[in-house]
Formats: sequence, structure tokens, C-alpha cells
Amino acid sequence: MNQITLPKLFNLGDRKLEPKFRSSFYMQDILSVDQFDKESLSYLFTRTEEMSEMVNQVGTCDLLNGYTLACVFYEPSTRTSASFIAAMERLGGKVIPITQGIQFSSVSKGESLEDTMNTLEKYSDLIVLRHPELGSVAQAAKYASVPIINAGDGVGEHPTQALLDLYTIRKEMSRIDGLRVAMVGDLRNGRTVHSLTKLLMNYDVNFRYVSPDTLRLPLNLMNDLINKGFDVREDDRVENVIKDVDVLYVTRIQKERFTDMDQYEAVKNYFEITTEVMKHAKPEMIVMHPLPRVGEIHYDVDKDPRAAYFRQVKNGMFVRMALLAAVLGQA
Ligand code: NCD
Repeated sequence: MNQITLPKLFNLGDRKLEPKFRSSFYMQDILSVDQFDKESLSYLFTRTEEMSEMVNQVGTCDLLNGYTLACVFYEPSTRTSASFIAAMERLGGKVIPITQGIQFSSVSKGESLEDTMNTLEKYSDLIVLRHPELGSVAQAAKYASVPIINAGDGVGEHPTQALLDLYTIRKEMSRIDGLRVAMVGDLRNGRTVHSLTKLLMNYDVNFRYVSPDTLRLPLNLMNDLINKGFDVREDDRVENVIKDVDVLYVTRIQKERFTDMDQYEAVKNYFEITTEVMKHAKPEMIVMHPLPRVGEIHYDVDKDPRAAYFRQVKNGMFVRMALLAAVLGQA
């Protein structure tokens, strides 16, 4: 084909989409936390701090001017979708939001994930996808020629949540090594717990898991922790572990993953973090939660300076800004 010379009308100025950096994230699908090691995490968190500083100082910039993100959510979301959109827009990029549920996309007409990805890659430089089926995002990545970021695949993983969780722990506690982290709630179905556990295995951390017997951490993860020699214990009561932990990572019981509603009813009010429970925690402990919460942390705990979950929400946008920029070769 002949080379086309653009008319002056298109004055490209500095908007030519050329990568400036080729970090290990450049043009990569982000599907699992297994892709990260200490070095790449440290790189990402340094970029994250720069993003936070930029937002504090000027609010927005044009780093991703000219880039378009397709943000596709086939499961409900508030924070993950909104923070990806905010992240892209703060960096001067554009978003195609398909976040109103599948009933508003052609998936409701029976379109396959393959055709949907094949379409969206024509309009965008990057796709963020949340889907209810385990492994579906990895499958979608095979269909799309642009990078795909996993925003949650059923009970599988939620890598960007784990990244922001880890960033929050590091920021709040000024270290990761040597901490004792307790994860509480629906450990079987909670994908954020699965991803955070794997990510923390890069560090010297003690693990405590607190859940009802039916919602324990999946066996493969537990075996992995044991085989790698981590100090790991399970319990069924928060009260038994709270006094000795540095991070209390609370999760909701994932109602939508239950097929037997009687089973859900039996565990739904299994634990509650109240101001009374908090009295037993260390003064420098932090409470985290990926949110949404549905009763497991009482609202009056929010006033406690150890309640870090809304600071965690804010960090999410900065981490996602850093990741989007790095994948597109601009950070
Ligand atoms: C989590 C998720 O979707 O896995 N939410 C989130 O992304 N912040 C946790 C949850 O839904 O319980």
C-alpha cells in the first residue's frame, strides 16, 4: 500500500502515539499476580507515587492523550470500574465505558466473548475486563490483539485490587516484610484474598486466615503457603487473632457465589468488626477491606484512624494510573 501523507489539518504535534518506556509491563496482558515480582512491584509503586503527586499538585495531565481504554464489566462494580475510568481520564486518555451490565451490550443478544473482544480491540488501545467466569479474562486475552487487564474473573483473581492492597499496606505500615496479615471472611470465594495471598508470598509475611469452616482458603493456595514454609494458621474467630496482627483484611461473604442459599444464610452474619472488637487490636494495626461491605465492619469503626479502607480506595486510582501508563509504554 502507498504511504499516506496526512493533510496539515491533522497537525499531530506531540500526539504521536509512541512508547517512551519499555518496562516489563509494556504491552503485557495483566491477568494474574503471578506475573509480578519484587522488582516489578517496586517499579510500579514508584510510578504510583509519582501519579499521586501529580494528582495532588495539578489534578490531570496529558500522558495518555490519544489513547482509548475499553472498560468492560460483565459483573457489578463501583470502585474498580470508576477508578479505571478516573485513572484514564486523569492521564488525559479516553474511555469506552461498557459498565452498565451485559443487558446493554450485544452479549445480551448472544454475542460471544471472542466477537466482543475482536470488536473492542478495533476501537481501543487497551481493554479492562471483568467477567463472572473463572479463566474467562485469560481466554479473552487470546482473542484481543491489544493488552487486557483482568478486573476480576469470577472466583479467580483480581490482580489490580491486590496491587492496590499491597501498595496500601506498604504505605500505611512503611514495610511489608515481617508483618502478620490476617484475612477474614469468605476466603473460598473472595478473589481479592486469592490474589493478595499470592502477591504477599513475594515477602516475608505471616498469614492468618479466619473464616467459617465452609469458606476456608482454597486448598491449592493453603498447600502452596505450607510448601513454601510460610508461618500460616487458620482460625474461626476474629477475636482469637486480632491482638497479634498488623493488618486485618476483611472481606464480605460473597452471596452471589452461593448456589445453596441456606448455606449463605448460615454464615452471612458470621463476624462483625465493631469498636468493641477494635479495642483488642494493636494501636498501629490497620483494617482494610476491598469493599463493598455489607455489615461486616460497623460504620462507627470508620472514625478509628486504623480504618484504612477509604485510603485504600484512593490508592486504587493511583495504582491503576501507573499500570495503565506502564502497559501503554508511557511510564
Ligand atoms: C471486590 C471484588 O469485586 O472482587 N470488590 C472490588 O473490586 N473492590 C470485592 C467484593 O466484591 O467483595
